[in-house]
Amino acid sequence: MADTPVLTASEEDVAAGFRGAMRRLASGVAIITAKGDEGAVGMAATSITSLTVEPPAVLVCINQSAGIHPHLAPGCPISINILSRHQRDVSAAFGGAVPRDKRFEVGQWVPDRHDLPMLDEAQANLTCTIVSMTPFGTHSIVIAGVEAVRLSDAVNPLIYQDGAYL
Ligand SMILES: Cc1cc2nc3c(=O)[nH]c(=O)nc-3n(C[C@H](O)[C@H](O)[C@H](O)COP(=O)(O)O)c2cc1C
Repeated sequence: MADTPVLTASEEDVAAGFRGAMRRLASGVAIITAKGDEGAVGMAATSITSLTVEPPAVLVCINQSAGIHPHLAPGCPISINILSRHQRDVSAAFGGAVPRDKRFEVGQWVPDRHDLPMLDEAQANLTCTIVSMTPFGTHSIVIAGVEAVRLSDAVNPLIYQDGAYL
């Protein structure tokens, strides 16, 4: 068996090691949109996980410091837009490169059944309502029920890994 290089982390280095480990985890990217006080708000997230099919539900972990966070609560509608490979500009904008009030100028947005912005040409659009929010450390674990789905024809997702897009 070939030797596999192993880097070990001391207890003090666990946080740095953990970040390094997560950089090695390739993830799809989604844009979460919600209703703000003065129009829609949105941010990029890789922490989308399929939770159950019965009922259809997802979870996403949102930093409590994110601009969208005060606008999330059980009963609130959210739109989850899973990005296509050509939409890295949308990911960058909603990841903080563009000011909050200008983000929806990047990409083509149409209203969903809750009148939330839904991204055209995304790999998939999930129309959801938040069921529960559980704080953990700096983040909240948001569980949302999925009410409607729109799919693109081809499967060609944007993938984020090691701080860059594949
Ligand atoms: C590809 C990518 C994935 C991200 N995933 C998450 C995530 O899952 N959860 C999170 O809280 N922030 C995530 N972020 C960071 C937020 O998108 C970023 O901090 C954003 O600026 C927060 O919105 P705000 O500027 O309105 O506060 C991600 C950023 C990028 C670029």
